Amino acid sequence: KQDDDQLIIDAGQKQFGAMTCGSCGMVYSADNPEDHFQHNQFHQRFLESIKFVGWKKERVVAEFWDGKILLVMPDDPKYAIKKAEDVRRVADNELGFQQVTLSRPTQAKTYLFINTDRMVVGCLVAEPIRQAYRVLEQPDRHKDMTKDDFMERHRAWCCSTVPEQAVCGISRIWVFSLARRQGIATRMLDTVRSTFTYGSHLTKEEIAFSDPTPDGKLFATKYSNT
Ligand code: ACO
Ligand code: ZN
Repeated sequence: KQDDDQLIIDAGQKQFGAMTCGSCGMVYSADNPEDHFQHNQFHQRFLESIKFVGWKKERVVAEFWDGKILLVMPDDPKYAIKKAEDVRRVADNELGFQQVTLSRPTQAKTYLFINTDRMVVGCLVAEPIRQAYRVLEQPDRHKDMTKDDFMERHRAWCCSTVPEQAVCGISRIWVFSLARRQGIATRMLDTVRSTFTYGSHLTKEEIAFSDPTPDGKLFATKYSNT
């Protein structure tokens, strides 16, 4: 149940007392008062931000056994725009993005994945673009990964200098930490491809990811090759 604030002991982090909150997903040290305080601060606000009460008008663009995807457009009612912004803020916060404004707010489409517990567990912002630079494949450094390699993974990705034609730019993609690896990001992207441009289905090549994070790159690489 989402409401019992149950703690899950993360086996990999057990040795330094780290716990993952079973409701909000925050990882914190159980025996640190400062951490406890920060978690209390975060917990309520986070759950409030991703809570979905249902709307009078919902643009449902996909339905699944474990949830549905809603599309929010720039001219939608205020309650929809506000929820999209709240969730985007949560995502930006986690991604470390400073500015919450979008490059072309009037053209951005926000896709929200709502689960059966009425929480927004996925958010994707797509914007029209003309061209993009392909991320070049790098040799696999992930084998025998040590702690120093973590920094390596955060280095800038090498991009091609030759622009390629693209139609749709993914400026944000975020899935709630406790709902990852269930195909939510994949289903949101599949839905973008069939609904972003009216009357046509976009190919994977017509979609571009802006500034992918390490998680984003692993996902994007997998998605593009399947
Ligand atoms: N490590 C390795 N492979 C991964 C990872 C990962 N962290 N995430 C996804 N993949 C690959 C896997 O092959 C996965 O298939 P599998 O689970 O059967 O092995 C496949 O991609 C599909 O993954 P999904 O379940 O569809 O992806 P998910 O719903 O977990 O969301 C996302 C992926 C959005 C990157 C999520 O991890 C997240 O929100 N991360 C934090 C925010 C972030 O970094 N977002 C990307 C920013 S880049 C941008 O916004 C343009
Ligand atoms: Zn919590």
